[in-house]
Amino acid sequence: MTQTPDAPVTLPTARKCPFDPPPEYAELREKCPVAPLELTVGPGEGAGWLVTRLSDVRSVLSDRRFSHRNELIGLPTPPPFPMTEYSPPPAAPGAFIKMDQPGHSRYRRLLTRRFTMRAVARLTPMITRLTGEHLDAMAGSARPVDLVTAFAEPLTVRVMCEMLGVPDAVSEPLARQLAVISRMHYTVEELITACTVIAETLQELVAAERAAPGTDLIGELVTGDELTDEEIVNIAWALLGGGFDTTANMLALGTFALLDHPGQLALLRARPELTDNAVEQLLRYLTISHLGASRAALADVELNGAQIRAGDTVVLALPAANRDPEHFDAPDRLDITASAQGHVAFGHGEHQCIGQNLARGTLRIALPMLFDRFPDLRLATPAGEVPLRSDMLHYGVHELLVAWGEDTGD
Ligand code: HEM
Repeated sequence: MTQTPDAPVTLPTARKCPFDPPPEYAELREKCPVAPLELTVGPGEGAGWLVTRLSDVRSVLSDRRFSHRNELIGLPTPPPFPMTEYSPPPAAPGAFIKMDQPGHSRYRRLLTRRFTMRAVARLTPMITRLTGEHLDAMAGSARPVDLVTAFAEPLTVRVMCEMLGVPDAVSEPLARQLAVISRMHYTVEELITACTVIAETLQELVAAERAAPGTDLIGELVTGDELTDEEIVNIAWALLGGGFDTTANMLALGTFALLDHPGQLALLRARPELTDNAVEQLLRYLTISHLGASRAALADVELNGAQIRAGDTVVLALPAANRDPEHFDAPDRLDITASAQGHVAFGHGEHQCIGQNLARGTLRIALPMLFDRFPDLRLATPAGEVPLRSDMLHYGVHELLVAWGEDTGD
């Protein structure tokens, strides 16, 4: 028997433990799996809903009666800056993430070839080389080192940029502006600067590739002759935006979780064949998309006893779904030998993460290389003092100070 709360719930974001989702989720999932949700702003009069069970989350994400169009979806969190009117624009040409069919699949079809497991396997030498370079630089630095700025962020940005064809000279300024819009709050001025710099940089890049196309992803899109420059700029923006801090957050938070679970780390070191499964477990256990996935109902739909109306916003709580005891054994335990099959850390359905194989490939290479290079890697601050990214669109850690070897007293 499910119960409806007296008032709509707010989207939980505060944590008691850095690795566990907000505690409210367990009760909601059990007692009110499709709960009325407070929206801070919405495009219309539609109500909000929060969905916490894995089966319901998967069912909404694979149902075309739920739209991903920006202009239809309300926000469950305070808007990034104070606004009098909330009217997000429709997706620009190429910005496929916020499109429904048929536009979405038209663009996605042009990209999937580059993101298959086989295509990502061909990037292994590049990812291994870049990982080695960053670990060398880390080894030569004074300890403690911040794993986020010394390893996780620069490595994943360079992997993304090499794949797309973004030269080193512009990857750093680009990353700085992407970092602004990956926060939950920024000023209008910061937003305008970020969007201007990102758009201009990508426009110049597409123009350069038109003049002399490379073998990278943008080069392939310009030679395909099917897309305008504006479309290619927006596709590149969607990919960079989607991949910018996600893998980095998983790498840093995953390292933190393993250092905090020494038995699991020892097991991983002893049995490297568990790496692929360990990465899946970390993805499930940590679920960095802590704000979930949002959709707008295009029709009236009944979901697990709740009457959702056309125009309502539905938020799929991915962190709650990935701890659903109906699906996972001991879901609140990090066990790198257990199955994480069916997790929704990358979403589900037509909008499921296009970069998932790249993210997996990077994590499967970078985590073991990190722990091999520093066999006694340890936290240099108490776990309770590690600053958490609850204030960002993707969850993770702001800083992870680590040390190894003898204490130098630095
Ligand atoms: C561990 C790393 C990552 C996680 C946890 C993650 C998570 C997700 C999730 C949950 C979605 C679905 C959102 C929704 O349905 O509303 C998604 C979509 C997406 N991701 Fe990722 N992602 C990761 C890495 C990447 C990378 C490396 C790229 C870059 C290539 C990327 C690009 C995208 C894009 C473009 C979409 C939208 C796909 C579409 O709408 O068709 N992601 N990601």
